[in-house]
Amino acid sequence: MNYRQGVFTLAKCEQLAETTYSFVITCHEIASLAKAGQFAHLRVPGFSLRRPISICEVLPQEGAIRVVFDIRGEGTKALATLKSGDSIDIMAPLGNGFSLLEPDKKAIVIGGGIGVPPLLEIAKHYGENSRAVLGFRSKTAVILQNDFASAGCGVHLCTDDGSMGRKGFVTAILKEQLDAEKPDILYACGPRPMLKAVAALAKEYGVRCQLSLEERMACGVGACLGCACKTRKDGKETYSHVCKNGPVFEAEEVVFDE
Ligand SMILES: Cc1cc2nc3c(=O)[nH]c(=O)nc-3n(C[C@H](O)[C@H](O)[C@H](O)COP(=O)(O)OP(=O)(O)OC[C@H]3O[C@@H](n4cnc5c(N)ncnc54)[C@H](O)[C@@H]3O)c2cc1C
Ligand code: FES
Repeated sequence: MNYRQGVFTLAKCEQLAETTYSFVITCHEIASLAKAGQFAHLRVPGFSLRRPISICEVLPQEGAIRVVFDIRGEGTKALATLKSGDSIDIMAPLGNGFSLLEPDKKAIVIGGGIGVPPLLEIAKHYGENSRAVLGFRSKTAVILQNDFASAGCGVHLCTDDGSMGRKGFVTAILKEQLDAEKPDILYACGPRPMLKAVAALAKEYGVRCQLSLEERMACGVGACLGCACKTRKDGKETYSHVCKNGPVFEAEEVVFDE
């Protein structure tokens, strides 16, 4: 794994939604290595375990990466107090990212909640050949829709409560999009039940699909067995490390037990 660890400067900190924050971190070497779908392991002052956060954008001209995170517990709450100009210790880029096809191929990205950020770099790659189906709890949680639109991507928004975009789940819109025009590939990140439903639709329509999974992590580099997930290889069930073998897997590799 080709990653770097060091202390870098937060070039820009922004609050994007009620509990969601965006950091641009100046880290030239990491920015030159990072790919869509990889993640950064962030040290939080006062906590021993790092927190894994996906790379939302790679900004080569600024020699920076962008991460977007939601406050979920004490660690992310502490992270959210950092300000522009502060230092942050990160290890990145970690894991295997998404496989990107030629940019003239057609792609649909499907994101649920805080699963949306790692898909932005994909939308930037495919530009007008991409469509995004983004789902959130309610309008207070909606993030990054303008960033996807600026990338040239057609954005379809839905919320669980109908407070913004269509009311309902991403899978209803995805089905309509698949009926309208079958893409070459699907990419999804979000809650596990959403990933399971997307994987089922991909199979039904015969479209390649990659999923980004989340598991609790400790080391982040394949050394502690902390992030095992059930996968399928050559028809046999096995375990993979989300940090090292993932977080991105082909949909047919993922075993959804529940
Ligand atoms: C590959 C990957 C990419 C991720 N990308 C993002 C992202 O882009 N934006 C974002 O907001 N969140 C992301 N997460 C989830 C994020 O890591 C957790 O929300 C965060 O670690 C919670 O930390 P906490 O201290 O606030 O919560 P606590 O619940 O207090 O955390 C306690 C411990 O559990 C771990 N943990 C808790 N929830 C998760 C989780 N869902 N996944 C992994 N470890 C967890 C923490 O690392 C910590 O060690 C990602 C997780 C993974 C595995
Ligand atoms: S987090 Fe240690 S093996 Fe994945």
